[in-house]
Amino acid sequence: MSAAARAVVVPSRAVVVVDRHRRHRHHHRRHHHHRSSARASRVVAANAASASFDVAGARIAGVGKAIPEKALTNDDLSELVDTNDEWIAARTGIRERRVITGDETLTTLGAKAAMQALERANVKAEDVDLIILATSSPDDIFGSACTIQAALGAKKALAFDLTAACSGFVIGLVNGTQFIRSGGYKNVLVIGGDVLSRYVDWRDRGTCILFGDGAGACVLTATTADACSLKGFDMHSDGTQNHHLIAQYVGDKGKPMSEGASKNGSFCNISMSGQDVFKFAVRTVPMTVNKSLKAANMAAEDIDKLVLHQANQRIIDSAAQRFGLSEDKVVSNIAKYGNTSAGSVPIALCEAVETGAVKEGDVLAFAGFGAGLTWASAIWKF
Ligand code: ACO
Repeated sequence: MSAAARAVVVPSRAVVVVDRHRRHRHHHRRHHHHRSSARASRVVAANAASASFDVAGARIAGVGKAIPEKALTNDDLSELVDTNDEWIAARTGIRERRVITGDETLTTLGAKAAMQALERANVKAEDVDLIILATSSPDDIFGSACTIQAALGAKKALAFDLTAACSGFVIGLVNGTQFIRSGGYKNVLVIGGDVLSRYVDWRDRGTCILFGDGAGACVLTATTADACSLKGFDMHSDGTQNHHLIAQYVGDKGKPMSEGASKNGSFCNISMSGQDVFKFAVRTVPMTVNKSLKAANMAAEDIDKLVLHQANQRIIDSAAQRFGLSEDKVVSNIAKYGNTSAGSVPIALCEAVETGAVKEGDVLAFAGFGAGLTWASAIWKF
């Protein structure tokens, strides 16, 4: 079996995961015991309520980020479209954003953020079991997780992309934790990043003022089930509202059969109904965070830091107000980076850890929302 752990279904239907170290310990015992007794030692009692489970939990062991060199200020944008710093700052909280130039790509940003997270976690690239890259703007349509894997030298890791727009990192965090809890993985890299400057229409003042490029990452490592940092989560999609925020494929449907078949396929610029997305976000963020709090058996007062997708300061403020959270409990860096899509939550987390705003033991409320439409949240004891 290639997975680092095996799942044993006990009669009560509870699934018990035996981690690789336990397997190893059992390995030499096999010489002394009958096979069935070794197996029996792995299968816990049928009574799930009193069973001592060996399911691993996950915690964040290190965070990292990568921001492109080039900054585009609101004044720079006012030379491209009819806008101004005052309007953008008042309506969004954004003062500037970063955009990739030269050799910078999603892969270079993702790899840089991941390397920093690995270093801080004291985990070697070759010990990473899984890389989840949350992005909607890979360098290659087949994904960029594998090129990041190659750049890191994370030889044994499975690497794949996860596309869920600005909710991607939060969904990746839950997903990565689940791989540790039920799949026996020990070290999982969750990277969130986007380079939406490639798809922004720089003539559209309704969207170009919002987006920036960047990536953030965290290393999840296995811990005991009791110490699992993920206390509750909630995740949703509503494809009936997809049209509010899209960047669709342009090209002939039956490309191989049609004229111009050899033309490169491409995607449209981002098209967004700002007001609809705004209303959706203001409605769903408190809803999903409340559900995660409930799953965690916690209340809004338990939140030490709100780490939301950085899309608009007004959306962040509205959520903070709903939960009665003072400014010092809200992480915000939107002024510097704008909306970096799947990058925003991990970049915000990384900066908050770097400045000491987020400390060990803090209860974090993560939430992402965006295209799909998708929205997701998680309560995380850091
Ligand atoms: N500069 C100056 N004026 C502008 C600009 C601009 N950049 N953009 C719009 N305006 C004008 C409009 O034309 C309009 O003028 P009018 O009243 O004469 O018609 C006026 O300002 C108000 O426009 P609104 O669209 O109503 O402005 P609003 O306050 O809604 O702000 C914004 C627009 C910033 C886009 C806001 O709607 C928003 O942030 N929406 C949410 C976007 C979002 O969160 N997206 C997340 C996506 S994440 C992902 O999945 C990728």
